[in-house]
This record gives sequence, structure tokens and C-alpha cells, in this order.
Amino acid sequence: MLDQTLDNDIADPRTYADLAKQHGLYTQMRQNDPLHWTQPEGHRPFWTVTKHADIMEIERQPDKFLAYPRSKLFPIEYEKKMAAAAGGKPHFGRAISQMDPPDHKVYRQIAQEWFQPTPIHGLSPKITALADRGMKDLLAKAPACDFYKEIASPYPLRVIMLILGIKDDPVSERKIMDATARYFGGTDPEVGKGEGIIEATFQYFDYFEPLAKEKRDHPADDVASLIANARVNGEPIDPAIAQMYFVALAGAGHDTTGSTSAGGVLAMIQNPAEWDKLKANPDLTHAAVEEMIRWVSPVKHFFRTAKEDYELRGKTIKAGDNLLLAFPSANRDEDLFDDPWTFRIDRKPNRHLGFGFGPHICLGMALARLELQIFFKALMPLVRRFELNGEPRWVQTNFVGGLKTLPVTYELE
Ligand code: HEM
Repeated sequence: MLDQTLDNDIADPRTYADLAKQHGLYTQMRQNDPLHWTQPEGHRPFWTVTKHADIMEIERQPDKFLAYPRSKLFPIEYEKKMAAAAGGKPHFGRAISQMDPPDHKVYRQIAQEWFQPTPIHGLSPKITALADRGMKDLLAKAPACDFYKEIASPYPLRVIMLILGIKDDPVSERKIMDATARYFGGTDPEVGKGEGIIEATFQYFDYFEPLAKEKRDHPADDVASLIANARVNGEPIDPAIAQMYFVALAGAGHDTTGSTSAGGVLAMIQNPAEWDKLKANPDLTHAAVEEMIRWVSPVKHFFRTAKEDYELRGKTIKAGDNLLLAFPSANRDEDLFDDPWTFRIDRKPNRHLGFGFGPHICLGMALARLELQIFFKALMPLVRRFELNGEPRWVQTNFVGGLKTLPVTYELE
């Protein structure tokens, strides 16, 4: 049986800054107790779901497995602090990731059309210009840089700012970057600077409230205007829900993508033949990006809550039980992937769950794919070879994150 240490480790943000430990834990669970009742000290218990097929089974039944009210893993003390800060509610306002039928569809539809592949591909020239700006920085810093901090991370932030309709300026960049670092990295003393989701949420609100007003007064053709002026059942959107929409898009919209491109470059450093293969066959970029998402899996979990008793793997999940969906574990599932521990840029098929599944599947999926493809197509002709120039280090977070530093040297073509 799996022991208390493992349960504590599943909750401990430090586990996720040590990839061997993180994947070691998940592998142990997939092999010995794939649906594991987990009781970490200081946390409310939950089922950890580690198999690809089980996560899909749960996610395809949104009427039986609810996204509200528990969506993320916090210690009980922090949950109390959040409820106090949010005036007694478990959260400040509901983001779409915390909504269930019928609301989820109604609110998701507000921005959904914008994030479909066709409109997103229409933005290719502007996204390419932002990638080229990053490549200029890379050339200027040659032969060494912190690839995560200086190249991978700023680019998707600029892309999501463009989509939201936020003016391209360093002050906005710094404010959003700072709030996101605290939001996802609050449990890492170096990244969140001792502050967490509560402080980060207020920081985002400080930024987005005036933005929402500006977009109501002067609507433009951007996603922030769409949300700020949305009407739901004939009424203006609840301002708290609009704010959480901004938070979700601004945060999820760049941290995940930057983590993926930096993690992808690290995987290429560790597998140089794959970099050579990609450079020789740029048509593989699409498949390579999918493999990077599988490999990195920057979103570690989301929760669901069972609405009724449910049988899975011979166990009874009771109504009201919470389930942690472990996406990185699904993406190494030996039952689904051939050779799951090998990074192969031409992996086919690659049915990873890096973007989740079902009605909550990542809203920004087409954008993330496109911006990563554009990024690597711009990077490939410039760099012959990357090498490590120090120790890569990962964010201590059990929710969303990846590398926090990736020191590299690189030889230009
Ligand atoms: C490689 C980059 C990305 C990864 C790996 C990723 C991953 C995920 C995952 C795993 C979920 C949860 C899905 C589920 O519950 O089944 C999610 C949801 C979401 N993502 Fe992403 N994401 C990425 C990029 C983006 C971008 C660029 C945006 C912004 C435009 C975005 C916005 C969202 C939103 C709003 C949700 C909530 C959707 C809902 O609950 O209906 N993500 N993402």
C-alpha cells in the first residue's frame, strides 16, 4: 500500500520542482493504486486519478463530476484564508474553470469564438512579429541567456496582451507577469515572494478593473472588450465573473505556453538528435509541439467533485468526494503511450491530455499550439545547438508551472 509520505508528497509543491520525484510518485500510483484515496496532512482528502482512461471517463461526464466548488489543491488553512478574503465564498468569483452546466457553456461561449483555430490563425502575422521580436533578443544576447526568463516567458505574455487588447508597454507587462508569478508560483519562495493566489487575485483586479471600464467606454475588437461588454441572459455580465475571466486568460494564457517552450528546449538539449531532426524537417513542428506539451504538462491538476456515488476501478467514489486529475501522470501512462519516457518529436499518435478533455478542455488550445509552432519555426533556423550553462530549476507548485530558470549557451547558424 502507498504510505502517508506519498500522500504528503502529492500535495507538497516542492515535489513538482523535482521531476524525477514527481514522475516517480505518479508511476508508483499508476502501478499500485491508480485511483488512490489521498490524505495529505493539513489538507482535505481526495482521490488522485492517475490513469489516462480514468481522467477521460470523469471529464466526459460533467453532469456527474462537478468543477465547483473545489478546483485546486490548497492546505485547509489557506482555504480558510481565501474564504475570508472572498467574503465567505470559497473563491473570489467563478472563473469558467469553476463552472458547471448550464452556466459553463453560457460563459465559455462569450470568448469561445475568438479562440477557434480560424480567427486565431488570422492573427499569425502579428504573432509572428512578436516571435521575431523575441528572436532579436536571443541574437542580441548570444552566446548565453536565461532561456526561460528572457525568451520563452515574455513572448506568450505579449501574445495574450495583444489578444486581450492591452497596450504593448513594459509597465503592463511587468504588472501582469508579477501577478501571474504570485498566482501560480506563490508556493515557491523565490517566485511568489511569499505571496499567493489571494494577493495575486487582488493585484490582477487592480489592473483589470480600470481596463474593463476603458473597454466598456471605448469597446474595440479584442477579447477584453468582448468580456467587459458581454450580456448574459439579457443582463450585463457580473463584474466579479468578468474579472475572473480576465484573470484566467491572462494567467493561463502565458505561463503555460512559456513553460512548454522552455521545457521543449530543455528536452532538445537532453535529446540533441531530436533538435537536429526538427531542423532538418520543419514540417515536424506541429508534432514536435504536441510532444513538448505531453512532455512538460505544465498544468498539474484540476479537481472535480462527484455529484453522486460512482464505481471506478472497483472502488466507490462517494457523492461529495473530490478527485484530483493528474494530467502529467496521464501523459506518461504506459497503457496509452509507446515508450512514454522517450521524447520523440514525431510521436504518432499522441493523444496527450496536456490540454485536459471534455467541455473544460483548454479554451486557449488553438492559440497555444499556433504560438508554439510559430516560435519554434522562428528559432530553428537561428540556432545550431543549445547547451546547458547552469542548473535548470523548476517552480515549486502543485498547480501550474514549469521551469523558472534555464541558463543556456547557444551556437548560432
Ligand atoms: C501549452 C499551453 C497550455 C496548456 C498545456 C493548457 C492546459 C490547460 C488545461 C489542462 C486545462 C484544464 C482542462 C480540463 O479541465 O480538462 C486548461 C483550461 C483552460 N485554459 Fe489552458 N493551457 C494552455 C494554454 C492556454 C492559453 C494560451 C489560454 C488563453 C487563451 C488558456 C486558457 C484556458 C482557460 C480559460 C481554461 C479553462 C477552460 C474551461 O474550464 O472551460 N490556456 N488549460
